[in-house]
Amino acid sequence: MNERPGVFITLEGGEGAGKSTAALRLTALLREAGQEVLATREPGGTPGAEAIRALLLSSDTALTAMTQTMLHFAARADHVEQVIRPALARGAVVICDRYSDSTMAYQAYGMGVDISAVAALTRLIGLTPDITFVLEVPEAISKARLKSRGAASDRYEQMGREVMDRIAQGFRAIAAAEPARCVVLDGTEPVETVVGRMRDIILERTGR
Ligand SMILES: Nc1ncnc2c1ncn2[C@@H]1O[C@H](COP(=O)(O)OP(=O)(O)O)[C@@H](O)[C@H]1O
Ligand SMILES: [Mg+2]
Repeated sequence: MNERPGVFITLEGGEGAGKSTAALRLTALLREAGQEVLATREPGGTPGAEAIRALLLSSDTALTAMTQTMLHFAARADHVEQVIRPALARGAVVICDRYSDSTMAYQAYGMGVDISAVAALTRLIGLTPDITFVLEVPEAISKARLKSRGAASDRYEQMGREVMDRIAQGFRAIAAAEPARCVVLDGTEPVETVVGRMRDIILERTGR
């Protein structure tokens, strides 16, 4: 089924859904089982892409939704070519905190960029995850978690309620359209439960 020896796993969902927390635990779990795991994130993952990330997340510079889209894909191109593809080629499990579905959900569904434009850029990158976990939490929980995390408010943490609703809708639409790739998980469950589900599904689908 797979031309590449590695396994490409992405974690998706809104702010505070628990992606980064789950990524960390899942990485530890797989490493304990003796697997090579590359844990990475988007936007970012290479020096160039991290520089683009700083620009994207900073709320100091106004950027149109299309500009943000192009920057996310520019960072992604660098990350995929320099880090993700080589890791998959050597057989690693790659766990990526956000990927193309975030651009589709945020910039297309949330901010109004043409869905087919984002789909075309996604095809241009040409690397589809083997499994995508979409973490879902109600907006109230997402808000409360962001507060308790206490992170500085970036461009995407400052978005209004209507945009957040459209983004959540976007993630649901993406998951519904690609059920063979996407697994929706209840992010309100305890971290151990969420990560345990991920572990079971990875084993079931990839044998890793
Ligand atoms: N399953 C969970 N149950 C309760 N709290 C969680 C869970 N997952 C994450 N958190 C907490 O919620 C906050 C946001 O989690 P984080 O992993 O940073 O979310 P994301 O990366 O999706 O924005 C953190 O303070 C984290 O400890
Ligand atoms: Mg995070």
